Amino acid sequence: MEPLALYIHWPFCLRKCPYCDFNSHVREGIDQDAWREGLLRELRHEAARLGPRPLASIFFGGGTPSLMPPATVAALIEEARRLFPAPSDLEVTLEANPTSVEAARLAEIRAAGVNRLSLGIQALDPAALRFLGREHSAAEAVAALETGRAIFPRLSFDLIYARPGQPEAAWRAELRQALALAADHLSLYQLTIEPGTRFATEYARGAFALPDPDEAARLYWATVEEAGRFSLAPYEISNYAQPGAESRHNLAYWRYGDYLGIGPGAHQRLLLGERMLATRRHRAPEEWLARVTRQGHGTAEEEELLPADRAREALLMGLRLAEGIDPARIATRSGLTLAEATDPAMLLACIEEGYLEWTEAGRLRATDEGRMRLDAMLPVLLR
Ligand SMILES: C[S@@+](CC[C@H](N)C(=O)[O-])C[C@H]1O[C@@H](n2cnc3c(N)ncnc32)[C@H](O)[C@@H]1O
Ligand code: SF4
Repeated sequence: MEPLALYIHWPFCLRKCPYCDFNSHVREGIDQDAWREGLLRELRHEAARLGPRPLASIFFGGGTPSLMPPATVAALIEEARRLFPAPSDLEVTLEANPTSVEAARLAEIRAAGVNRLSLGIQALDPAALRFLGREHSAAEAVAALETGRAIFPRLSFDLIYARPGQPEAAWRAELRQALALAADHLSLYQLTIEPGTRFATEYARGAFALPDPDEAARLYWATVEEAGRFSLAPYEISNYAQPGAESRHNLAYWRYGDYLGIGPGAHQRLLLGERMLATRRHRAPEEWLARVTRQGHGTAEEEELLPADRAREALLMGLRLAEGIDPARIATRSGLTLAEATDPAMLLACIEEGYLEWTEAGRLRATDEGRMRLDAMLPVLLR
């Protein structure tokens, strides 16, 4: 049976970062008891619909889940384990911000059952941290990293690069400093301007510029090269790991597996028999909480995805991975064979142009060139 990945969203932050369009909000006075009960209720609601299914991973994302009361984290992990059969080495990740306040709580978070920490370091350069509007200094970030490494069996951290005016040499130096502190996993994102953020407004009025596509590509290859020196390979466009240290939870998304999404704005995909159900929760924290309290779940929308939609999603996710896609799995998960889902002439053209390739194991994979052009390639590839 397809194992489940469980995502739990905590929508609160101490401050909103100017680049971030995640479902995160600044709120005074959170009713912690109501939030714990709400998340538990929605989890139970989904478990009752699904029945017993093996659980492979839990991911606390946000927002800033390191601000959750550790007792809430513990209650959710315990309840998930009660509702679903899970292996003893269940992967349980929590995203944390590296302020000193949160670093002081890491031991409690570990004791709650989290065994993988994902720290949002973002930059090690003080000017960049100020530009990104972060609440922590570079020294705090390094301290949180060292504390995290001592406490958690697995640890990853995020950096944002391709920042305005960032020279390649400076990024290489910053990345090397980060790599020396890294464990076996890193997420390295290029800065994107997301609609509706403060950066979108500032960028539109010309307050800063971003590297052009050629420069961004050079920075990407510099990143792959530097990470490679530390045996960290890009198993996904922005994610680097030593073999075996990949995030099992995120792999479930990219391999188009089944996942539950609990909490405001969370998404869920479940293949039930022949039907794929896509579910989305209310985004606004108060709206979500009111609905869960009233009716046991905060679902805003649930629809059945057509085979063509499923194939599109599965290809979009799977071609981000260095391992590529298994055509047999695409057929099982979408209901369409690769030949039915794609335009054969376009598939051939993408291979001839060097954007896609077949592996010896019979998987279809994007080449380095192709992976950088996925958004443009998929619309022409799909029927
Ligand atoms: C949900 S957020 C992080 C969690 C945590 N609150 C934090 O800020 O450390 C996940 C990650 O997405 C990345 N991210 C968010 N917005 C981004 C943007 N506009 N461009 C590039 N990376 C972004 C950041 O690296 C961030 O750590
Ligand atoms: S980047 Fe993290 S801390 Fe900043 S607003 Fe987004 S979720 Fe919150």
